[in-house]
Amino acid sequence: MRKPVSAANWKMHKTIREASEFVAGVRSKILDVPQVDIILCASSTVLFHIAADADESGIEFGAQNCHWENEGAFTGEVSPEMLLDCGAQWVIVGHSERRHLFSETDEDVARKFSAAVFAGLRPILCVGETLDERQSGTTSEVIWRQLNAVTSLTEAEAFDRAVIAYEPVWAIGTGITAETDQIEEAHGVIRDFMKNVDEKLADEIRILYGGSVKPTNATELIEIAGVDGVLVGGASLSIDSFMEITQAISEHYDKG
Ligand code: PGA
Repeated sequence: MRKPVSAANWKMHKTIREASEFVAGVRSKILDVPQVDIILCASSTVLFHIAADADESGIEFGAQNCHWENEGAFTGEVSPEMLLDCGAQWVIVGHSERRHLFSETDEDVARKFSAAVFAGLRPILCVGETLDERQSGTTSEVIWRQLNAVTSLTEAEAFDRAVIAYEPVWAIGTGITAETDQIEEAHGVIRDFMKNVDEKLADEIRILYGGSVKPTNATELIEIAGVDGVLVGGASLSIDSFMEITQAISEHYDKG
């Protein structure tokens, strides 16, 4: 069984004090959820503070974006090397808010993925369709296109330490969760795509679901075939709801 992941995407939230309190809270409850890899994706301004005093609790830290160069004249950008230097192990690439609000293309995402891996970071690659794309029946096509951009630029081994997150854009921050069959199908599309890249990799790679994950739906979501964890936005801002979600995932793993 693939070890499940509970990943928080705090987006543009949390000061150093708030983030440090959250980490202390997770640390005090981490023994209750031994079966889950917990990844907290924070803004770059707090990463150093929370990741530097990480200790052996096993909590992992990630950033939410990176540039594809390691240095240069790119005002306002942060490089993979800089994130690694702050103590990050992970970085989200291709989140739909980056794709849609900041016009990141599939090629940009592919370059970021590749640069992150090259620097030694582990990417959480987000893919997913908009409502228009779903309604026009092109969901699988969109997912293939997004994945294909990345695999065209990187070797299969680059995925060894990566995680993929299926996040239907219409379910993000809307309170609407995708239906079980929609999630199962999309996860199947992703795993089938990965099979074409490498059979073993397709078996091993963890595919998360993201989009309005809450304590009330976490159990149902983790029970869907092919779902290996969750990427949580809004509900990850409160320690209680994030840990309830993580607990639900841990219990599912316990059941085997
Ligand atoms: P949400 O966000 O849980 O608030 O829908 C998920 C995400 O953007 O990763």
